[in-house]
Amino acid sequence: MKAEPQTSPLKGQNLSGEARNEALSGECSRDRTVRTRSSEVMTESSVGLSRRSVLQAAAGILAASLAKVADAAEVGGRSVRASRSPDSVATASDPGPARQMEIYRGGLTGAKPAVPIAFEDLERKAQEAIKPEVFGYIQGSAGNGASSRANVTAFERWQILPRFLKDVSKRDLSVQFFGQRFSAPIMLAPIGGVLGTIHPDGEVAVARAARGAGIPMMLSTLSSKTMEAVAEALQDTPRWFQLYWPSDRDLTASFLQRAERSGYRAVVVTVDTKFLGWRETDLQNTYYPFFAGHGLANYFSDPVFRRGLRSKPEDNLPEAVTHWGNAFRNPTFSWADLKWLRQQTRLPILLKGILHPDDARKAVDHGAEGVVVSNHGGRQLHGVTPSLAALPGIAKAVGQRIHVLFDSGIRRGSDVFKALALGAKCVLLGRPYAYGLAVAGEVGVSEAIRNVVADFDLTLALAGCASIAELNKQYVSRV
Ligand SMILES: Cc1cc2nc3c(=O)[nH]c(=O)nc-3n(C[C@H](O)[C@H](O)[C@H](O)COP(=O)(O)O)c2cc1C
Repeated sequence: MKAEPQTSPLKGQNLSGEARNEALSGECSRDRTVRTRSSEVMTESSVGLSRRSVLQAAAGILAASLAKVADAAEVGGRSVRASRSPDSVATASDPGPARQMEIYRGGLTGAKPAVPIAFEDLERKAQEAIKPEVFGYIQGSAGNGASSRANVTAFERWQILPRFLKDVSKRDLSVQFFGQRFSAPIMLAPIGGVLGTIHPDGEVAVARAARGAGIPMMLSTLSSKTMEAVAEALQDTPRWFQLYWPSDRDLTASFLQRAERSGYRAVVVTVDTKFLGWRETDLQNTYYPFFAGHGLANYFSDPVFRRGLRSKPEDNLPEAVTHWGNAFRNPTFSWADLKWLRQQTRLPILLKGILHPDDARKAVDHGAEGVVVSNHGGRQLHGVTPSLAALPGIAKAVGQRIHVLFDSGIRRGSDVFKALALGAKCVLLGRPYAYGLAVAGEVGVSEAIRNVVADFDLTLALAGCASIAELNKQYVSRV
């Protein structure tokens, strides 16, 4: 804990250096200490309470004082309203400073964030927390993983060009899609197959965290919980359904109807997964979660899927998994099929996995309302272009006509900033939240999300933007 922020609240409290140190690393709960008042400490210490009680009370004074200081602190030229509860979400208007103060204030009583702040540490911690083959499935990519790493290093080739002396006291991070407003230009990416393996509540835990953080969720077809259960956990939080297009059209139609009924507001067709990429790590580990029935709740619960089985999935898993394998694999799926899809649903359609401007133009021609520029986190095609390298060309080709979203390599706030400056309207957060789930469950997902939102908010302010609408290519330069 650095001394600087504690100087002011300590004034006049007469704490010895030792007491102050102990108070700062104390074991008392924050709820209790924040409620403690200075006069109570005097009374309690005068009737001979234990040294620890005094220290706990002292920590309470510190926390309460710092809370006041933080609440009134001048950050970015205006007063910060920091959240009081450790579990409360960062305020919508000030997520960056609010999250910072929440973390620093927690430090007064020895509280540490539930997940490491830096992505690299979060990934390491996740590796310690889950089985090697499950971690390998999340971290691993096509080939030797170089394409996934290239997604990240692509961000280093763009640097931020800040502008100064602008009023950034109020920042608008919000963005609108299909009549719904998102509080920040960040959504959770669809992650299939393993969320239910790393946490018993899987996607439902993720949904609760998304709701708490006010961030929308794109649910994978390959979910361990049904889309209805996830929708229930999300309540009013915006949600889109990611579709792996089944070979059986009746099953596709059934998925679409279920998604519409349970409040998903767009269907996102992933176009890059006609086959599974050659994933060296998973092959070496002989790990393929779907053979154990993981991530198949949407199929196993579907009336059309179940009609094709002789026995229920609960009674005959091998039969259900074989049936799923036949339904999942769909290498003939092509542009012409989109016309049929258009007739099946009123939901807006987006295509995820677009990397070429001509494919983006075709998406427009075939009635798509958006594209997600993505290389699937480098998991499908070894040697594929980094997703960020594809973004400017696609934004230029279709950004005025349809929504352009982006993923693959988003790790921190500056990545969100650069992607938006290069033409994305919104980004998807992938591996960071899966690691958050592995390390600390729902709280871990919540913190992983809120840290990126906070970092983005501060990046925006420090670069001189009061609104994401201002972001454009002039805020970045290629190095
Ligand atoms: C473990 C794992 C499972 C994934 N499952 C899906 C999926 O079911 N559907 C899909 O469209 N994309 C899936 N993706 C890709 C993500 O949606 C997103 O494109 C990718 O995670 C972005 O890369 P990043 O996490 O490295 O930023 C998955 C990614 C991971 C890491």
